[in-house]
Amino acid sequence: MDVIVVKNDVEGGAKAADMIREAVKNGAKVFGLATGSTPVEMYKNLVASDVDFSKLTSVNLDEYVGLPADNEQSYHRFMQENLFDKKPFAKSYVPNGLATDADAETTRYNKIIADNPIDLQVLGLGRNGHIGFNEPGSPIDAETRKVPLTQSTIDANARFFDKEEDVPKYAYSMGIGSIMKSKQLVLMAWGEEKADAVKGMIEGPVTPDCPASILQKRDNVTVIIDEAAASKL
Ligand code: GLP
Repeated sequence: MDVIVVKNDVEGGAKAADMIREAVKNGAKVFGLATGSTPVEMYKNLVASDVDFSKLTSVNLDEYVGLPADNEQSYHRFMQENLFDKKPFAKSYVPNGLATDADAETTRYNKIIADNPIDLQVLGLGRNGHIGFNEPGSPIDAETRKVPLTQSTIDANARFFDKEEDVPKYAYSMGIGSIMKSKQLVLMAWGEEKADAVKGMIEGPVTPDCPASILQKRDNVTVIIDEAAASKL
């Protein structure tokens, strides 16, 4: 694990965007993308840059079950607003939150990933160490599946919704197995509320209790964290 400590998310987002642009230059064709507040600065940098994704493919990590693509809180909409509207890809995939047949949807998404092997996967980090929506206890070899969200994730995400009851309780998420297959990984985390998860990820034992700790088993992983997120290392 290559760990880079930066001052804040502005500096870290710029660094992550540089890595993406470098990967494009080096011929990467498929980018695995993440949502949440963490990658916002990275997307701002990419939008302001001259990077051209128009012949490339993106595959997103996850989507809330039950939210239509145009819902304000859907990850689909997040991607449109933060990146795709300004920097479109030739093809962008996000799980379909409205799919009611979970088996069909996860099979469809797994085929997309198999057909478009991910060159560089961007990741955020949940306060409980989750990656994508792979909550503690998730199997390490899983592909895309429908997952229940833990109460801690529901609480953490409630700030984006009017009422806690509105926060979806399930998501479609790439599994840890799918994430681990990508050739390169860049994980970002900012703020003190991520410090325990960062410590578990970097210094803790590799355990399903902290899903991100599995990244210790991989080469080609860059972790970009700010000083607050690094404060317990
Ligand atoms: C969410 C997402 C993750 C994200 C994480 C952290 O629930 N499913 O992909 O990395 O939690 O979110 P944030 O970046 O807003 O702190």
